[in-house]
Amino acid sequence: MSAPSEQLNLTIVPATIDDLPQLMALENACFSDPWPEAVMRTTFAVSVAKILLAKLDGEAVGFAMAYLIPPEGEIGDICVSPAHRGKGIGRALMNALIDGSNCTQFWLEVRASNLAAQRLYEKLGFEVLGVRKNYYERPREDALVMGLTLPEE
Ligand SMILES: CC(C)(COP(=O)(O)OP(=O)(O)OC[C@H]1O[C@@H](n2cnc3c(N)ncnc32)[C@H](O)[C@@H]1OP(=O)(O)O)[C@@H](O)C(=O)NCCC(=O)NCCS
Repeated sequence: MSAPSEQLNLTIVPATIDDLPQLMALENACFSDPWPEAVMRTTFAVSVAKILLAKLDGEAVGFAMAYLIPPEGEIGDICVSPAHRGKGIGRALMNALIDGSNCTQFWLEVRASNLAAQRLYEKLGFEVLGVRKNYYERPREDALVMGLTLPEE
């Protein structure tokens, strides 16, 4: 499904607070229960948060964020604009979060019905660790907890 990202004019850069409107536009386009802007804004003040923006031909098309406290990292959010899915951008964002993080264990939550995201995580080596019942609202749904353990360098 995904074209290798190097075939695209794709850049992945650290997001700044000035990117907040673009992040919120993506968040609102991608989720039925988007993070409120106040929560997203707060994330920029969290020292362990890494927030990356994907730009295709200079246009913001996706972002991802993680809380990194080596050796553990929690993937907090990832989304790609509906118009630009299936091009390898989600995978590129995940790899950029993981690479250079100094973390060897990652975990995340994903809606039980969100097979696209689950396939992405599985492709990267994540496995289902457990279920959090009724974790999500709008609509109410279980979360799968997925984890990835990388070999120590
Ligand atoms: C999940 C999401 C970020 C994937 O982004 P993307 O850029 O389309 O993903 P990629 O093109 O990098 O795909 C990488 C892999 O993910 C899997 N995948 C992605 N979309 C898929 C789909 N619709 N169906 C099945 N597998 C899919 C494939 O295994 C793919 O690997 P392949 O190209 O070798 O087949 C995107 O669908 C999205 O933004 N969804 C809405 C927000 C969301 O659900 N975020 C996750 C919250 S936990």
